[in-house]
Amino acid sequence: MTVFERAVRPWLFRLGGGDAETAHEWTLRRLAAVSRRPAALAALRSRYAVAAPRTVFGVRFPNPVGLAAGMDKDGAALPAWPALGFGFVEVGTVTAHAQPGNPRPRLFRLPASEAVVNRMGFNNAGAAALAARLAALPRPLGVPLGISLGKSKVTPLDEAVEDYLASYRALSGHGDYFAVNVSSPNTPGLRSLQDRAHLDALLGALVGEKPVLVKIAPDLTEAAIAELLEVCLARGAAGVIATNTTLSRDGLAGVDVERGAQAGGLSGRPLTGRARDVVAFVHRETGGRLPIIGVGGVLDPDDAARMFDAGAALVQLYTGFIYRGPALVRAAVRATAGSAPPSTAPDPVAGR
Ligand SMILES: Cc1cc2nc3c(=O)[nH]c(=O)nc-3n(C[C@H](O)[C@H](O)[C@H](O)COP(=O)(O)O)c2cc1C
Repeated sequence: MTVFERAVRPWLFRLGGGDAETAHEWTLRRLAAVSRRPAALAALRSRYAVAAPRTVFGVRFPNPVGLAAGMDKDGAALPAWPALGFGFVEVGTVTAHAQPGNPRPRLFRLPASEAVVNRMGFNNAGAAALAARLAALPRPLGVPLGISLGKSKVTPLDEAVEDYLASYRALSGHGDYFAVNVSSPNTPGLRSLQDRAHLDALLGALVGEKPVLVKIAPDLTEAAIAELLEVCLARGAAGVIATNTTLSRDGLAGVDVERGAQAGGLSGRPLTGRARDVVAFVHRETGGRLPIIGVGGVLDPDDAARMFDAGAALVQLYTGFIYRGPALVRAAVRATAGSAPPSTAPDPVAGR
């Protein structure tokens, strides 16, 4: 057991009478404070940062284990994440309009299942506020920055393209890649943007000079994923992020069934197998032509290694970080350091 699991986690899980979002806010505040102290960042870096560089969709990553979207939606603690060992950071999901998200409580831990249910609903300060914060960062982050874009709740679905575009325009100078989030279960109708016609219009508008990746739901059928991949390839998407949280409640421990019935998306251990299966399907279906960021239920180094075996070029963590802390990031990087990045295109020389 690590110090985090023995001492820090029990303390964090008791904060706010056990309210998960209180612990989340406390952690972000602490990491934001650390982010302003170079000596503290250097101490963390020397403990956690491990190099295992690779280049994916034209971007160089110092290591392939990233922070998933939703943890630091507004980029409040950006310098802390690379110091904790992450090889890239995805901020957001951000929307064109600032919005409060759903009423609290909206985040629930299910410890016996190593899982979380959330229905945050894209609470964020808006694309303009994020752009201002990124512009004011004192020094380069040192790792690639992904920016996840979503639809504002007040914007009707048939105006979604303009809404995503407004965020993209505000932020295009700041991200190394952009994630199009069309898979959160917590914004009504959002997932219908994964359909062929909607996605085609969205990617037609967004794909440009920066890499654009599409984040997909684990609840899609293989036929729906195959259709979505056709659109991604035709429109020049740089890759796929698989997966977002699930509406399924399979795999919960008995004690968590009641709490797990809360509305929202489930993440963590119950998602491990399904997320990996989706990664494997995408890899197979595209013949490795679309780089994949594998995410969902990576809770130990073996899970990370198996994501890469399934075809992921990069992985991300969220729930695993809640349960295992920063030691998981370092261990996941080490577990995958030896793995060769999967082929993403036919080798032009070997093909001759
Ligand atoms: C509290 C919470 C908030 C999240 N917010 C977002 C979000 O804003 N955008 C997004 O694309 N994914 C969001 N996610 C999904 C994660 O990025 C990730 O895809 C999912 O949790 C599966 O990974 P995990 O099992 O490692 O947590 C959120 C997840 C959690 C637990």
